[in-house]
Amino acid sequence: MPIIAHQKITPRKNTMVKRKETREEKRISSLSPTLNFMVKAVRHAGASLVRDFREISQLQVSRKGPGDFVTNADLFTEKKLVEFIKKTRPNDAILSEECGEVPAQNASPYTWVMDPIDGTNNFLHAIPFFAISLALMRGDEVIAGVIYNPVTNELYYAEKGQGAFLMTPTGDVRLRVSGRKKLEESMVATNSYALRTVNGLTDRIINNPFCFRCVGSTALALAQVAAGQLDVFFDCRCHIWDLAAGYLLVQEAGGIVQTWNGEKDMGSILKDNGVLATTLDMREKILNFINPKEKTCKKKKKSV
Ligand code: IPD
Ligand code: CA
Ligand code: CA
Repeated sequence: MPIIAHQKITPRKNTMVKRKETREEKRISSLSPTLNFMVKAVRHAGASLVRDFREISQLQVSRKGPGDFVTNADLFTEKKLVEFIKKTRPNDAILSEECGEVPAQNASPYTWVMDPIDGTNNFLHAIPFFAISLALMRGDEVIAGVIYNPVTNELYYAEKGQGAFLMTPTGDVRLRVSGRKKLEESMVATNSYALRTVNGLTDRIINNPFCFRCVGSTALALAQVAAGQLDVFFDCRCHIWDLAAGYLLVQEAGGIVQTWNGEKDMGSILKDNGVLATTLDMREKILNFINPKEKTCKKKKKSV
């Protein structure tokens, strides 16, 4: 009879080794729970935008052109953001450019304000200067904001009272508005609506003493003011989803956001229609330049 060796059965080692967190994941998990959630939300929504952007770049040279492609990308990004938020924060209100307002439930004081693509025309022309803008408001106050360009992977974030930052591959950089004091040395940006509506502005700009840009994404322009790249950004006819996240970024970076008449709360900025983001040193200089007499811009057609 064969002797069956009495084998000692040693339990198999668990080969499921826990994956090491990437440096980026570590950084995200060191953020506050609110920002952590917001960064995950925009990254989640931004993944498909990167694919769409690559496709748009191909479509540019085809005869077909981008057509409804942009609208679909916009709606899809918004859907992903809304679903992501609703899963974890089902009671909060949502205010978005495409879907409008989803009311709060159970008296939640929070509203998520989002623009799935800010800079649609840039996106349409395959210019990688557009962003997802996501802000969290408690009542009338913006308490957190994230602006994310998924193509360049630039991610700007701020939380009320905690400063504004840019996430970079080597660590997060604290943002500060520019320290330039002379208008003639500064970089000033706007969008085309202000040029069309403010009397004589285009002429004054043509003969201007500073560098000038028309940028096409209000959210990213505000982030650039926060980062000190732009000294001034002014615009007209903005909506809350264009402004909310950037408004907080600029303030947390030591800058000011106000109407052309000096009111600083978000409600007044939205009612007044002209917005200015800049530094204390530059404020009066640029206001006198933009509109020395009226300091207002024609009313917008679309309201929130
Ligand atoms: C637009 C951009 C643009 C500004 C327009 C906005 P959209 O948003 O922010 O810079 O001048 O007023 O409507 O349409 O690209 O989301
Ligand atoms: Ca948009
Ligand atoms: Ca917008």
